[in-house]
Order: sequence, then structure tokens, then C-alpha cells
Amino acid sequence: MKSSEIRSLYLDFFREKGHSVVPGIGLIPFDDPTLLFTSAGMVQFKKFWATDTPLPYTRATTCQKCMRAGGKDSDIDKIGITGRHHTFFEMLGNFSFGDYFKKEAIEWAWEFVIERLKIPEELIWVSYYEKDDETKEIWKKFLPEERIIPLSEKDNFWGPAGDTGPCGPCTELYVDFGIEKGCGSNCKPGCECSRFLEFWNLVFPQYDKQKDGSLAPLKRRGVDTGMGLERITRIMQKTNSNYETDLFLPIVKEIERISGYSYDSEEKKPSFRITSDHIRAAVFLIDENVLPSNEGRGYVLRRIIRR
Ligand code: SER
Repeated sequence: MKSSEIRSLYLDFFREKGHSVVPGIGLIPFDDPTLLFTSAGMVQFKKFWATDTPLPYTRATTCQKCMRAGGKDSDIDKIGITGRHHTFFEMLGNFSFGDYFKKEAIEWAWEFVIERLKIPEELIWVSYYEKDDETKEIWKKFLPEERIIPLSEKDNFWGPAGDTGPCGPCTELYVDFGIEKGCGSNCKPGCECSRFLEFWNLVFPQYDKQKDGSLAPLKRRGVDTGMGLERITRIMQKTNSNYETDLFLPIVKEIERISGYSYDSEEKKPSFRITSDHIRAAVFLIDENVLPSNEGRGYVLRRIIRR
């Protein structure tokens, strides 16, 4: 399945479930001085949970351009080392603002993954926030308990994006690439090895983190999910990393042509990954009029181009 088909399938599925299909915003959040870049699909909706502003819709779905380079959410140091992180990537998401909550979010995630993407259900594992028994009970309708893994706040309490704003417990879907990719007999989601790939995070925003670090209740609780398009494409196209999917392969091939090196060389692979990742990031930043400079966003771009 092509990445473009996965994008459409996702947005169409949530349209069928009553969501408005809303355009993503740019990489520079328009009215959010707390963020360097748009780092998640939820960024454009923060006020819908945190204030009682009138809502144009209570359910939305988007495909959002994201940048995780510079600032708190930066993944820049992982690029090239893993085959699953990016500075620039696309996040598919469905959102509820005071509308549906955990039950529907989980049921629809399962339906999409099993019935639309047709991923064999025995490959799916999930994690949940260890204090969130409600989420565990919902998952038990679909999965044996051995594949429902409790994790701590570090892994399964998401947000906020930046230092303040909506956050809450989350539950994540993983695909199992097989025991032979694991690091040992007791390897589970949450382990840093290559056996499990987390591809969809379902967050249940309930708190509004304040500047002093305290958690106030949100005006409207809801749902904020994020599925990495590059990761789900890798799963559907059965490639060894995100960099061999149709989202990256044309760039990798062009770098091979220009450089004369082969991506198949283990020694060169990290350089191919860094270069192809950073080219996408630079192109999309420049498209939004960010130019290399000595500070802020321009400095991030300068670092990306230099590297
Ligand atoms: N905001 C969550 C994330 O970025 C889910 O969309 O993972």
C-alpha cells in the first residue's frame, strides 16, 4: 500500500466516524509563542481543550506536518542512529473536544488497524499508563492480557507540547517484528531494542499544565491521537526502516546517484538517513520562509543544513 493511500484511508475512516477533515497548520504555529515548531497534530487545537472558546466541530482528523528539531521535543540526535525517528515527519491524528473519550478512541483504533489496514491482530501489542485501569479494561475486549503492558508516567503520560498546555495519560499501539529482532526473552513494548515499533499514540488530554508545573483540569477533556505516517508506511510496506519506504526511497536513490555511494553499505547507511531526513526538513522549513540564521528557527535550519 502506498503512503498516499494510507493517508487517504485514515482521513476517510475518521470522516465516516463523524470527524471534520481539517487541514494541518504550517510548521510555524500561528499564535503559539510557547513552541518553536509544530511538533504534533494537537498543536492547532490546544485552545479547544483548554478554554471554552466556541467549537466549529467536536471531532476532527488531520494529517499534520511536524518538526521535532530544537526545543523540548527534539529528536535531532536520534536521526541516523535509529531507522524510525525524523526531524520532519507527518502525523495522522483524530481528535475529540469534549466529545468521545477512551472507549471510542480505542475501538476505532483497533477497527482501523485490523479491518482497514489488515495488520494481523497477533502482531499488535499495546501499552497503557499503569494507573489507568479503565484503558486496560477496554483493551481486554480485543487483546489477551499478556499483550497489554502497563508503563510508567515516563512512557505513557503525554505532553504538554512545549512547557504548558493539554496533557494526559496515553496508550500506545506497537507492532511486533518478531522475537529474533528482540534483545532477550522478556522483551516487551517500552524496550529500546528493535523488536517492537510504536506507531500510534492515543492520548486522553485531561489536564492543563501550568507554568508553575501544576496540573489544572482542562475545560474540555478529549482525545488526541498521533500515528506516524513514516512508521505505519514502513509496517505496511514491510521494509527494514522508514528510509526504505516510498516516502524516502526516491531521495535515497538520488543521493546514491549524486554521491556514488550505496545505501546498502552499513557504513554509509547513517549518512544516507541523516541526509535524506535533513533534506526534507530543510525544504519544508524554507518553504515557510525560514532562512538560515544565528538564532531561533533559523539556527535550527542552519544546523540541519550544516549536518
Ligand atoms: N500528541 C501525541 C503525540 O504527539 C498524540 O498525537 O504523540
